[in-house]
Amino acid sequence: MNPTGIACCLFAVVLSATAVSQNANAQNRPFVANYDEAKIPPYALPDVLGDVKSADDWPAKRAEWRDLIAAEMFGKGPASDAGGDVSVRSQLDDVAILDGAGFLRQLHVQIAGETVRVAMFLPESAKQQPVPVFLGYNFAGNHTVFDHPAIELPTSWMRNIDDHRARDADRGKSSSRWAIEAMIRAGFGLVTIYYGDIDPDFDDGFENGVHKVLGKPADDEAASIATWAWGLSRVLDVLEQVDVVDAKRVAVFGHSRLGKTSLWAGASDQRFALVISNDSGCGGAALSRRQIGETVWRINTSFPHWFCGNFKKYNEQESKLPFDSHVLLSLIAPRPLYVASAVEDRWADPKGEFLSCVEADPVYKLLGTEGLPTTEMPPVGESQQGTIGYHIREGKHDVTDFDWQQYIRFATRHLK
Ligand code: GCU
Repeated sequence: MNPTGIACCLFAVVLSATAVSQNANAQNRPFVANYDEAKIPPYALPDVLGDVKSADDWPAKRAEWRDLIAAEMFGKGPASDAGGDVSVRSQLDDVAILDGAGFLRQLHVQIAGETVRVAMFLPESAKQQPVPVFLGYNFAGNHTVFDHPAIELPTSWMRNIDDHRARDADRGKSSSRWAIEAMIRAGFGLVTIYYGDIDPDFDDGFENGVHKVLGKPADDEAASIATWAWGLSRVLDVLEQVDVVDAKRVAVFGHSRLGKTSLWAGASDQRFALVISNDSGCGGAALSRRQIGETVWRINTSFPHWFCGNFKKYNEQESKLPFDSHVLLSLIAPRPLYVASAVEDRWADPKGEFLSCVEADPVYKLLGTEGLPTTEMPPVGESQQGTIGYHIREGKHDVTDFDWQQYIRFATRHLK
């Protein structure tokens, strides 16, 4: 590595160590992330196919893997009918957007006692014929994804705001992460929800959000990521009743912790027609055994509420995991899956995100699909698209127009 590379490495290590010392939950022990491929402990990945010889054998094996990943990592359940019927309580008046190219429709949906605000940005054509949509959580409220005064603010607990209340001043502040105009011009809608409407993202002992009704999970039961994934399925229940959306063509999308969530949503609910993981990293698409960047111990220590109690057994014991992220990705087969990374997002281990796609490919091929068209990590900025899609782009941990251009092209090919 050249001196600039070494300096960058040192800088990244110092940065991540600083981030740890600022995190109250991770203070008990310093953590220095490894970014050196040469220091990856030798590992063998669990054989995803095992004795599966034909496509007919896969559903039983898939169910075994799914139950194991549920019990040991994300937590089982909740049952699809936990918390009672999901119902639309009210629908706000439609509002034209983008000079009439599309419209905004907002719903209040009751999910396990919580009022969830659903914002749908749809092409005008949806009024004639239901359209395919991207469905994904946002981090800071529906009003942050698009700057429009009609978009309601969440009333639930907000992260990163002093009084934890949503602010009018934040309208549109995350719009660069949501290429709504490009989606609408391509004939897709976007359905989005603030993830805190389902479960506020802090270690609250599972007392808030839908847990008020669902109760505190046991060690093998759904922690926050699985609960968010369940929330996406409940929104899909609602979309099945909405005439402007084609619920058979819903691409579930998520960035970062919400990319871990979209993967588990797609693995748990086969009604999702396509799955997108943007920079999902540790506990998402990245292979845990590589221990590059964030590790199982680090994620469980910083965010104890994300994964179930049983997952803590694997702190610094990645080799004992009975699966790895390639098995998680395989659960989505044969449905189209897109995994994306960013060069500067080393904390999420881009190479580990790519390798799990390579390792999931045999399942996709066995099921008669094209799988991933390459076994070599594509050059920066090049999108490889088969039934599995992958790219690594320039830049940092984020969602950009480049990412959306690829997702729209991939979804156009598979859902239109
Ligand atoms: C932290 C965390 C990651 C997560 C990310 C995010 O960086 O360590 O695992 O993906 O937050 O959700 O933004």
